[in-house]
Amino acid sequence: MKKLEIITRPEKLDVVKKILAKNEYSGMTVTAAMGCGHQRGNIKDFEQLNLDMNLLPKIHIMTVVWDEDAEEIICELQQQLTTGNVGDGKIFVSAIDDVVRIRTGERGEKTL
Ligand SMILES: Nc1ncnc2c1ncn2[C@@H]1O[C@H](COP(=O)(O)OP(=O)(O)OP(=O)(O)O)[C@@H](O)[C@H]1O
Ligand SMILES: [Mg+2]
Repeated sequence: MKKLEIITRPEKLDVVKKILAKNEYSGMTVTAAMGCGHQRGNIKDFEQLNLDMNLLPKIHIMTVVWDEDAEEIICELQQQLTTGNVGDGKIFVSAIDDVVRIRTGERGEKTL
């Protein structure tokens, strides 16, 4: 299993939800976030030398998917979330060892 942490523009939440639904996933955790990347949150050219961190609103969507679906979902997310402008966000991908469905005690991939 792979965990995808998608940090992107708040207005792109529906796009992410549609891609997950299309791939038959319904489990996700969505958190309002503040963040910055390489530009340190400075959006105007003349501010490029400002070394302060200016945190901008983002959303953080965490979802865990099967290994065999991960690559296709990641590609779709990248293609549909890009605007070509700085601040589109990032997708962090990591391996997940196990999952426990608390209600039943079931473990592993079948719980997703
Ligand atoms: N290295 C990182 N670690 C954790 N979160 C990050 C990291 N880089 C970016 N983020 C998160 O992603 C959001 C968007 O980042 P952003 O798209 O600006 O990245 P970037 O590397 O500056 O790329 P770009 O040049 O396209 O803007 C940030 O506001 C922050 O929440
Ligand atoms: Mg940036």
